[in-house]
Amino acid sequence: MQPHIPAVDPIPKCQDDEYAEVAWGKENLDGKFSAFNIPRPKVFGKQVKFEMLYCGICHSDCHMGLNHWNNANFPFVPGHELLGKVVEVGPEVTKFKLGETVGVGCFVDSCGECESCKAGFEQYCYKGMTGTYGAPKVHGRVGGNPKLRTFGGYTGSNVVHEDYVLKIPEDMDKEKTAPILCAGITMYSPLANWNCLEGGKTVGIVGIGGLGTMGIKIAKAMGNKVVAISTSNKKEAMAKAKGADVFVVSKDADSIKANVATCDVILNTVSADHDLNTYLPLLKKQSTLVQIGGVTSPHTIVNFPLMINRWSVAGSLIGGVKECQDCIDFCYKHSIYPDCETIEANKIDWAWDQLLGEGGNPDGIRYVIDIKKSLQNESFLPAKE
Ligand SMILES: NC(=O)c1ccc[n+]([C@@H]2O[C@H](COP(=O)([O-])OP(=O)(O)OC[C@H]3O[C@@H](n4cnc5c(N)ncnc54)[C@H](OP(=O)(O)O)[C@@H]3O)[C@@H](O)[C@H]2O)c1
Ligand SMILES: [Zn+2]
Ligand SMILES: [Zn+2]
Repeated sequence: MQPHIPAVDPIPKCQDDEYAEVAWGKENLDGKFSAFNIPRPKVFGKQVKFEMLYCGICHSDCHMGLNHWNNANFPFVPGHELLGKVVEVGPEVTKFKLGETVGVGCFVDSCGECESCKAGFEQYCYKGMTGTYGAPKVHGRVGGNPKLRTFGGYTGSNVVHEDYVLKIPEDMDKEKTAPILCAGITMYSPLANWNCLEGGKTVGIVGIGGLGTMGIKIAKAMGNKVVAISTSNKKEAMAKAKGADVFVVSKDADSIKANVATCDVILNTVSADHDLNTYLPLLKKQSTLVQIGGVTSPHTIVNFPLMINRWSVAGSLIGGVKECQDCIDFCYKHSIYPDCETIEANKIDWAWDQLLGEGGNPDGIRYVIDIKKSLQNESFLPAKE
């Protein structure tokens, strides 16, 4: 594969159908985060404008911003766990009113017409979903300059077509709700697909980070037994406190051996290159290992154990709009929230370092940017021209 050299395009001035908004992003691959203004599309038609309250930091933000996925472009404004309050609606909006709390997850548009979109699986759109950040505007529901890629949620506000906006119950804990929009739904969707919604299964969760901890909580609340699988025993007490029934240390052969053939499904959220053959023996016969982490190196899988056990290795990507709303409603009903640490915009680089460091996300925390607070601090705002 040819290495992708990220383009660095200066941000053009706002067009008539755009307004300027503060964002925190990376101006180039090697740079740290800084504040700059971005053009946002003005409200029209079915567009909903919301002021941002909180935005979660997902490991995917780091992968894309560091060109791990070979598709970075700059300036880059990440963030796909957006939570805000509606401040303006377009004339054709029917689903949202001023003042309501809303969320936006990992995509802001899709073709709306293909088999996947019609079935509510917009994330598998045959023509490609439009990611909340770094994506070309191809399906027509993202306004403003068509040449600009989408900018994510590390910003003061956003404008999104109502079909891609989610309702957040007003009495949810807003500070902790944003990460449900990616970390939550990314675990909920495979649990639903692999028949764990009604409980009674044994679910393995590999990688006790932002996604993994939400996986433990959601799988448990559905009524499943949860096996937390981590690289060391450092997170055992934490994983059990979040609901894990069993803790397996993947680097300890005896720990794996003691739990062979116990899981009906394993959700693997590991964010760095790893050997799948470590985890496969934990599966029962005819069971599935679901790949969720955004790793890019190809895997080597030993063939005979697959056949002898009729194991499947599958993948899963976030969740569709309806499923995401179901996930929010499920978390609301069961009072499920990620363990969050709220930070201000000057600590984004630090939070990324926590996720990227040796061992990865040592506290199983979701870092969430308090946007309002960040906007109040002059020193985090773009320099005045
Ligand atoms: N498929 C999707 O739709 C989707 C959606 C969102 C995110 N993702 C991807 O899912 C991954 C996890 O995201 P996140 O936000 O949960 O990240 P995170 O908070 O940084 O957690 C990642 C976890 O992976 C484990 N890990 C890290 N390096 C490892 C290594 N070398 N070997 C084995 N385990 C290792 C660590 O768990 P332990 O300390 O427990 O070992 C770490 O806590 C990322 O790659 C992200 O891009 C995918
Ligand atoms: Zn994410
Ligand atoms: Zn489609």
